[in-house]
Amino acid sequence: MCGIVGYIGNNDSKEILLRGLEKLEYRGYDSAGIAIMNDNGVHVFKEKGRIADLRSIVDQSVQAHTGIGHTRWATHGVPSQLNAHPHQSASSRFTLVHNGVIENYDLLKREYLQGVTLKSDTDTEVIVQIIELFMNDGLTVKEAFRKTLSLLKGSYALALLDEEDNETIYVAKNKSPLLVGLGDDFNVVASDAMAMLQVTNQFVELMDKEIVIVKKDEVTIETLSGDVMTRAPFTAELDASDIEKGTYPHYMLKEIDEQPLVIRRIVQKYQNEQGALTIDPEIINAMNETDRIYIIAAGTSYHAGLVGKQFIEKIANVPVEVHISSEFGYNIPLLSENPLFIFISQSGETADSRAVLVEIKEMGYKALTITNVPGSTLSREADYTLLLHAGPEIAVASTKAYTAQLAVLAILAEVTGKSRGIDLDFDLVHELGIAANAIEVLCDSKEEIEAIAREYLATTRNAFFIGRGIDFYVGLEGALKLKEISYIQAEGFAGGELKHGTIALIENGTPVIALATQESVNLSIRGNVKEVAARGANPCIISMKGLEMEEDRFVIPEVHSLLTPLISVIPMQLIAYYAALHRECDVDKPRNLAKSVTVE
Ligand code: M6R
Repeated sequence: MCGIVGYIGNNDSKEILLRGLEKLEYRGYDSAGIAIMNDNGVHVFKEKGRIADLRSIVDQSVQAHTGIGHTRWATHGVPSQLNAHPHQSASSRFTLVHNGVIENYDLLKREYLQGVTLKSDTDTEVIVQIIELFMNDGLTVKEAFRKTLSLLKGSYALALLDEEDNETIYVAKNKSPLLVGLGDDFNVVASDAMAMLQVTNQFVELMDKEIVIVKKDEVTIETLSGDVMTRAPFTAELDASDIEKGTYPHYMLKEIDEQPLVIRRIVQKYQNEQGALTIDPEIINAMNETDRIYIIAAGTSYHAGLVGKQFIEKIANVPVEVHISSEFGYNIPLLSENPLFIFISQSGETADSRAVLVEIKEMGYKALTITNVPGSTLSREADYTLLLHAGPEIAVASTKAYTAQLAVLAILAEVTGKSRGIDLDFDLVHELGIAANAIEVLCDSKEEIEAIAREYLATTRNAFFIGRGIDFYVGLEGALKLKEISYIQAEGFAGGELKHGTIALIENGTPVIALATQESVNLSIRGNVKEVAARGANPCIISMKGLEMEEDRFVIPEVHSLLTPLISVIPMQLIAYYAALHRECDVDKPRNLAKSVTVE
């Protein structure tokens, strides 16, 4: 969602800000802007559309060593030049960029800004106007900033410029991610380390409700009550090449192809010197002490959670419930006596999941976060973290994070099971190796999969995915992948449920992609395929070697039956990718979506 960058130093800030914003494009946005400040004042450039549109309106002749930039994903007010950030106060003295949602902005507007004509529909403008108001009442800028922050309810990451002081950027955050990056004679601000890797890999974490005064040679962190905090920087372990597309046409394709490597890396990271899988004993204790695990997640991570439940229950014998985070907060089920919460989140920033984490922490329960981003909010705020080690995932459609989540959940289940005296009848390290090889085979079958996408999905209005058991969960993920990047109305259904309503949707030629990777339900899912075919559907059966039949359209290599989701999801991802290409959609940046969903 919205992204923030800032630079203060000796170099011209324009290009650094624009390049930083380009690196944040993956988060999703619909307008962008920068404000740069020199002795002549603040110059604001903002535009609806892409960074390339913004670039074309930036006056290259203006040189400025201080600046802030923003990508906006509309929440309050339509995507437009007027609603794009930065926003300015009435006199234009203050300029602000904001990520997050101010829940009480309307109340604040009515209470403080009766006499002010607002130029935009945003909650952000309310903040910057109030800062100026308080400053006009005689407060210093820092005091006005602090007082304003104390009024805000909701989430924010803020970077503020004061036209009368081009040596300072004021920064603060609450619930939304924001980092300060350190350099020699310059400092930067960024929603995500990736944005500023171009100039530094040294970053300082900020805590909620701190005020940070960023100068080119000094960063001062204060609590809201004015106590100065010292905090050591960390090194962002990212390689610039991790965030480049290289020779790939799209990040999504690159990330699909990275999956065998990611699985092998995860196995390595979770192996001890003897080669046995290992996990922090504190986490295993928590897994053993609980009487029920509650997995909380959204979107693709939720689908990984559904498969994770199978792993944990079947391998470690611990009961698991899986919940959609945006629902859980309003609809908390009757909890067991000693619950353990597992948050699954690629980004570690999903606001819906974070809201649940805050709530269950207040209730005194323990939480484990499984995430791809070390230092992310969900990781920091949970008791324990397991990392996915998938490398940055840039495409909005999650691919390698899903398979990484499954691999880590399988390892967690195995190590927990072992600690409870349950020995698997198979060697997980070996089976994950076989799975990685099988993914490689599938990634080499792109032409065949592209042909499926062309045949079934090039022009269709809708498509259905069916499966039973673990295949149903992969079907849900296949449908999500397809709908989010190709805009085909796609839904996943449990094969047995068709006759209870869904089958009414089947028309002549409706594509139905059926997964058949489980021996126990092989015949019943094929029975469901016959039912839809009899009603005119165009079925496409994807089965696994050993279970295949003559009518199957595609056969995936054989892997352990519990691990099939790691493999069967690959054709789902590739089918979605090629369908989106055929329909000329923006594969990496689908409309209306953001990579990191930081608003509830
Ligand atoms: O970062 P998270 O895993 O918490 O994100 C959750 C969902 O927003 C995410 O999985 C989303 O569904 C993906 N775009 C799906 O490809």
